Amino acid sequence: MSQASRRYHITTFGCQMNKADSERMAGILEEMGFAWSESPDDANVILYNTCTIRDNAEQKVYSYLGKQAKRKQDEPDLTIVVAGCVAQQEGEALLRRVPEVDLVMGPQHANRLRDLLEDVMQGNQMVATEPIHIMEDITKPRRDSAVTAWVNIIYGCNERCTYCVVPGVRGVEQSRMPEAIRAEMEELGRQSFKEVTLLGQNIDAYGRDLPGAKPNGQHLHTLTDLLYYVHDVPGIERIRFATSHPRYFTERLIRACYELPKLCEHFHIPFQSGDNDLLKAMSRGYTREKYLRIIDTIRRYMPDAAISADAIVGFPGETEEQFQNTLKLVEEVGFDQLNTAAYSPRPGTPAATWDNQLSEEVKSDRLQQLNHLVATKAAERSLRYTDQIEEVLVEDQNPKNPAQVMGRTRTNRLTFFDGDINELRGKLVKVKVTEVRAFSLTGDRIDTPTPEVALAH
Ligand code: SAH
Ligand code: SF4
Ligand code: F3S
Repeated sequence: MSQASRRYHITTFGCQMNKADSERMAGILEEMGFAWSESPDDANVILYNTCTIRDNAEQKVYSYLGKQAKRKQDEPDLTIVVAGCVAQQEGEALLRRVPEVDLVMGPQHANRLRDLLEDVMQGNQMVATEPIHIMEDITKPRRDSAVTAWVNIIYGCNERCTYCVVPGVRGVEQSRMPEAIRAEMEELGRQSFKEVTLLGQNIDAYGRDLPGAKPNGQHLHTLTDLLYYVHDVPGIERIRFATSHPRYFTERLIRACYELPKLCEHFHIPFQSGDNDLLKAMSRGYTREKYLRIIDTIRRYMPDAAISADAIVGFPGETEEQFQNTLKLVEEVGFDQLNTAAYSPRPGTPAATWDNQLSEEVKSDRLQQLNHLVATKAAERSLRYTDQIEEVLVEDQNPKNPAQVMGRTRTNRLTFFDGDINELRGKLVKVKVTEVRAFSLTGDRIDTPTPEVALAH
């Protein structure tokens, strides 16, 4: 392959974990001398970072792959890589189904992309899906944003929710050392990033697997400890974390978010179902009462905090009454945002083998009802921003209106206002909200931006 033809394209499906992995793999490809190609059709290395959380997510990959596999008949030098969760789940089977694929690599192997690709360049077809200890980040990710960044703190998941493929494809929990996390954040601060989102599938599990880590004499065994340890990283103005599990969410964590000025007042805590029997069938390990207590405690400390979550409708055996319990919970909490999904039976998960599956009609009907309620509640929640002054971290231009910039409030509401992106990118700006919609706001800038403001609660 000549130097001139070293171009790559990555298509990313799925969650923030996959997005973070893609940024690291892009960093590795650039270190190897590949340049980003906007179009996959002009690239010599095509990488699909895949998701298998629901069946439709998986089907999407196969339709994309089909097109590139055909291209390979005329361009035998084209390298096709399938990474991520479908790769992990399918392994060798993927090569049998799409023999044009050169490399199948699970999420735990993302940091090994260089070694794996070098083997492929030697003419080998590779499958890397064996469980391994994840290599500490040795690469510089190619980050999509210059303002906000993901930082993984724990990989994998040890829960066994009966519908979920994640533990099977991401493996057991592996926490990164607090010093490595802080070092990555310090580097981000030096590079003028302003916001960090700490990532884990079950972020509350952070530290459980670490040997007694005690930098500065502190015990750093929990997410709360980690927040106290990293909150003063210079340059980083905002810290978020996701995803929280209601089973492990503590008041101590809520207090830390209240006390630490850089911790944003937004909590993403999936509840999945508002019915206790269904929660049990899902093996979630909490009740709706426990969930509501968490929300109450958050609101006691931070009355205006934003709450978002994930929910599934049409889980096997879900009765109309049980579904109504989910609607009631949504009504009662009033989520700022809710990611909803119709249950999708996944290979290798217990719930997929049960004989009480619901019809697609029932599932999609319930999904529609829930989505309708979610939009109504979100619009109600947005009303509280009317005429308020919010601190917005400017990320980008409004793609629909170049005279406007867009960013997020501390509570994660997308906000638009008139301004020049070249002046404002990465700045914290006070904005007076003039228009509210269910999931976004519009306002007017009311001050000159300063990068130093970190509003206290
Ligand atoms: N770790 C997070 C969620 C990870 S998966 C948690 O514990 O909440 C992201 C979301 O996908 C889940 O919250 C769930 O709502 C949805 N999901 C997972 N498996 C699913 C399935 N089989 N069918 C439909 N939705 C599913
Ligand atoms: Fe899946 Fe449950 Fe783990 Fe979340 S906590 S990733 S839903 S098994
Ligand atoms: Fe999908 Fe894997 Fe994330 S299955 S949701 S990309 S962990």
